[in-house]
Amino acid sequence: MELFLDTASVDEVRHGAETGLISGVTTNPTLAAKAGRDYNDVLKEICSIIKGPVSAETVSLDAEGMVKEGVAFSKIAKNIVVKVPMTVEGMRACQRLTKKGIKVNVTLVFSANQALLAAKSGAFMVSPFVGRLDDIGKIGMEVVREIKQVYDNYKFTTQILVASVRNPIHVLDAAKIGADIATVPYSVFEQLFKHTLTDAGIKKFLEDWEKVPKKK
Ligand code: E4P
Repeated sequence: MELFLDTASVDEVRHGAETGLISGVTTNPTLAAKAGRDYNDVLKEICSIIKGPVSAETVSLDAEGMVKEGVAFSKIAKNIVVKVPMTVEGMRACQRLTKKGIKVNVTLVFSANQALLAAKSGAFMVSPFVGRLDDIGKIGMEVVREIKQVYDNYKFTTQILVASVRNPIHVLDAAKIGADIATVPYSVFEQLFKHTLTDAGIKKFLEDWEKVPKKK
């Protein structure tokens, strides 16, 4: 499973890239607001750091507007993927952008039926939001499991990008189900490295290393 960073912070993307473990980035208007800079400038910088897919989100509500925004985003860099929402207009835009050779990430997906429509519209990626489903008392990962089953049944090539990830358990569950990608906040990425036994083990090895006789 690939790991993407869910951020519009260029610093976080840079740090993530340095680990050699991050293969893409997802952004959205909320993350762009948090970054507090011109969205296009941020996307351009991120695309110069990360060579894999970088998702840029449209904000129009009609297909025409989404296509226009998507075409403009696609000119920023060749690894841009255009995000459109799971609506009728979003699916019309997805079909049109896909026909133009522009990759689309269908976002705000909360059911397997929505993911089916996205795949039928030619989406490159589909983003089920697990955390937001958990927030309302549903089991977000169940939707990911269902999407995986539906896509496997019909050999859809649309990639399942697990989004709205809140903790390492989401990452593990996504990997167990066989999702293609999990996009994670930087804080969750950091947590993936950590284990108290790893820290304790390093401490003990360093202490014992001091006791090893060394030639002068
Ligand atoms: C990424 O593509 C999504 O926009 C993001 O993961 C949503 O996360 P949130 O539910 O924590 O806002």
